[in-house]
Amino acid sequence: MGLLTNYSIALVPGDGIGPEVIEPTTEILDAVGDKYGYVFNYVELEAGGKAIDSSGEPLPASTLAVAKECDALLLGAVGGPRWDTLPGHLRPERALLGLRSGLGVFANLRPAALLPQLRAACPLKDGALIASNPDGKPSFDLLIVRELTGGLYFGERGRSDDGKAAFDTERYSWNEIERVLRVGYAAAAVRRKKLCLVDKANVLESSRFWREVCALVSKDYPDIETSYLYVDNCAMQLIRDPGQFDVIVTSNLFGDILSDEASVLTGSIGMLPSASLGSPTDPLAKDGRPMGMYEPIHGSAPDIAGQDIANPLGTILSAAMMLRYSFAMETEAAAIEAAVNTVLDAGLRTQDIATRSAGDSEKIVGTKAMGKAVLKALEQ
Ligand code: IPM
Ligand code: MG
Repeated sequence: MGLLTNYSIALVPGDGIGPEVIEPTTEILDAVGDKYGYVFNYVELEAGGKAIDSSGEPLPASTLAVAKECDALLLGAVGGPRWDTLPGHLRPERALLGLRSGLGVFANLRPAALLPQLRAACPLKDGALIASNPDGKPSFDLLIVRELTGGLYFGERGRSDDGKAAFDTERYSWNEIERVLRVGYAAAAVRRKKLCLVDKANVLESSRFWREVCALVSKDYPDIETSYLYVDNCAMQLIRDPGQFDVIVTSNLFGDILSDEASVLTGSIGMLPSASLGSPTDPLAKDGRPMGMYEPIHGSAPDIAGQDIANPLGTILSAAMMLRYSFAMETEAAAIEAAVNTVLDAGLRTQDIATRSAGDSEKIVGTKAMGKAVLKALEQ
């Protein structure tokens, strides 16, 4: 064999179920490497609760510095009740925010589609799932593009001097809005060519500003249909008729909320991957490809940690997104997605996506068995 191409992946297994969902994922990545001729070198880093325990801070400077040197970052989950009473700036979640902003990954892609195998795990009735589908098949396939390094999550915050009031601020610059919109338009261009900006422009000045930017940026994408929706209406429409959406672009906070809602429609939050991307012109970009951070959208789920019951598919599918966006390995990414499809076709379900009503056609498996099944499907 000729020279193998090496990639360095910063790995943050994190807390709770994080390490359990990361383990099968690296095995699958290694199998992809073996099959297609790459070597993935993992650089394991501490962040979140684990880092608080060992160094007293959620995001040690060394973790961020090393992550910046790597080709991409793959994260399990951080947080847990043990650290919940710490002050805001010392909580494990600070690590996530610090990594996102430190790596400059401002565009968070959260795809949510209903796989036919998981129809029974989706809480919606057929009427809602066929509302916008001319073929009458119950389905939806949407992508939430969430702004990830601005807005309320990073705005000025504080308490009044007398301690009787507190505030957070939503502030967005033109540039922050424009760059995430362009990611949304680029995504829509290779999908169904529809982009919906979700905001609260009937009340918030910052939302009105988003619309101004969008009105201008949209002119560069004449073949993409741009629409606008208030976030409260969007929350309702997602349940009434999710098939109407293609790409949704929205702020950090609204994207956080709507993506949890969308995830339930796919059957389980355990299914959803995410990719957070920076700018291809950022100094951290490698070979013209943006810096990328990949994580399932679920949290550390401390209540089920250590029991081998967590769904690893969200993390496995996040690794597929890493191959696609950070390493331009479309074939390899699609191979992982196809392997996931195969195990679902075979009826394998972690308990979160099991419906119990489907009887013998479903087999409930644990985290490890699910990982092994995907591995086997990939190697075939
Ligand atoms: C997410 C999570 C995080 C967020 C938390 C854990 C800080 O909910 O990635 O959606 O709010 O961004
Ligand atoms: Mg969230």
